[in-house]
Amino acid sequence: MPAFNIHRLSHAALNVSNIERAREFYVDILGFVEVEKNGDELYLKGVEEGQHHSLILKKGEPTGLVYAGFRVSSPEDLDRVRSYYESRGCRVTKYKEKAVDDALLVIDMFGVPMLFYYDMEYTGDLGLRFNVYKGAPPVRIHHVNLGLKTHDLEEGLRYYTEDLGFILTEYFLGPDGSKQIAWLTGRYIHSSHEVAIAKAGDAAFHHIAYYVFEFRDMVRIADILASLGMWDSIERGPGRHGATRGFHLYLRDPDGNRIELYQGDYVILDPDKWKPIEWRYEQARYRSDFWGRPTPERWREVKQVIPPSL
Ligand SMILES: [Fe+2]
Repeated sequence: MPAFNIHRLSHAALNVSNIERAREFYVDILGFVEVEKNGDELYLKGVEEGQHHSLILKKGEPTGLVYAGFRVSSPEDLDRVRSYYESRGCRVTKYKEKAVDDALLVIDMFGVPMLFYYDMEYTGDLGLRFNVYKGAPPVRIHHVNLGLKTHDLEEGLRYYTEDLGFILTEYFLGPDGSKQIAWLTGRYIHSSHEVAIAKAGDAAFHHIAYYVFEFRDMVRIADILASLGMWDSIERGPGRHGATRGFHLYLRDPDGNRIELYQGDYVILDPDKWKPIEWRYEQARYRSDFWGRPTPERWREVKQVIPPSL
């Protein structure tokens, strides 16, 4: 039994240096739904998301991930969140986030800032209002890719599977046969992954991914960015991953935060029957890019995690 029930990955907060410049990138170009601007914070979401927001851009430096947000399954789960993390020596703090009741912020044992809450204001999705869609558009948050501060990813994996209740879907082995990266899905959504974790020297943010309706939506964004002369914003793809099978287009926002447009992964219909897919080190090339194209030089660059000062 997990220590508490996570319903799903629900949102992320990123620091950006200039809100207006970030708004142009995320809203005007990519097509995020702009929900609300509140001083130095911008609240965004995809077109199929009913909750108030799934991405918060905050003016602040250094830029990078402020926290990843998870919805728990009941208000009582928040009490379990508190006792679980406190018993592991982590500080648990009440955190005020717009449109959210009773959120708890934790820096977990691997250095990652996580926000847990049960209730966020539900403002409804854009549904069939195709006339207001623009950009890709981003449909819904799909996954977050994090570096965990650990020398042994098995520790991180035990934490995610046994304590947080995630299901291991795929993993990648290093040359020594130890796990380097793992993909995990939650107990409710059963996509290829909601979280990817990698062994890292320090907690790190690699990217956040949004689902798009179809592959052509990625091509459209690449075309738009190229027409605007923003070639440096297109980092990788469009292409297909071996691991998770998804199509990808990786972008860098004006501050270098990496955002992935993602599409076409699988759904796990029978999680109790699932056998995690193993990728050996020799398979690295097509594990990462099924079409065998090399990753760009700056692919290993990560952004910092910058938990809010409390
Ligand atoms: Fe990804």
